[in-house]
Amino acid sequence: MSKHTPKKRQTVRNIQQKKGQEPIVVLTAYSAPMAALLDPHVDMLLVGDSLGMVLYGMDSTLGVSVDLMIAHAKAVVSASESAFVIVDMPFGSYQLSPEQAFENAARIMKETGCAAVKLEGGVEMAETVRFLTERGIPVMAHTGLKPQHVHTTGGYRYQGKTDEEKAALLEDAMAGQEAGAFAMLLECVENDVAAELTRKLTIPTIGIGAGAGCDGQVLVTEDMLGLFERTPKFVKTYGNMKEMIEQAVVDYAQDVRDGVFPEGKQTLKVVS
Ligand code: KIV
Repeated sequence: MSKHTPKKRQTVRNIQQKKGQEPIVVLTAYSAPMAALLDPHVDMLLVGDSLGMVLYGMDSTLGVSVDLMIAHAKAVVSASESAFVIVDMPFGSYQLSPEQAFENAARIMKETGCAAVKLEGGVEMAETVRFLTERGIPVMAHTGLKPQHVHTTGGYRYQGKTDEEKAALLEDAMAGQEAGAFAMLLECVENDVAAELTRKLTIPTIGIGAGAGCDGQVLVTEDMLGLFERTPKFVKTYGNMKEMIEQAVVDYAQDVRDGVFPEGKQTLKVVS
């Protein structure tokens, strides 16, 4: 294949066909350089509204706007070739009505070129999921811990510990599937419950803190790379980006102070 032949992107169909066949690999990406690095190795890139906390230091995801999601999603789509790019609908952009959700989801898809959107909710969002999917917008539903509900739930808690929570999760997942969601994200769901949901649903489940019984896994890339001092218990770190950055900055500062940088190679001179 020539270097310039664009690769074919993963589609909803490819992703769904992986259920029961092979694990689905998903990571978050918010920028062009990160998307380019991750793209060859993942099935999906999620432009998550977690970017509000990870990149902008917000206390929660609630302050993220549609414009902000669009700016980051454009960068991710343009720098990736094969991954299925899915974009979070931020708080306040879809809860009012199915029509509001359609307007914002259509804008996100048109302006970014992404393949699908994700929204938080189960039974209460089923009508909206149906409205979007019937009008050509693939939707991943997100249940379990729903970070946009942090103020009503009073914090970030594991879901599915009690029989009531388990029954509600099952209802939410079934409602999302029946409404046409192509996949279901399960966040911080008690692991046996997530495995049971995965068996009951015909659409793929993507877990984060939901155990090995899901059809796929997603992590926030910066958590996985070890950028932060503290990460949730379910995160496995595969690098130590924090230490690497700190050491590089210490070395750079020392070189500048010692007059060692810039040196010959980095010095531009007009040769007359
Ligand atoms: O915003 C996000 O990054 C998410 C995670 C739970 C994967 O939705």
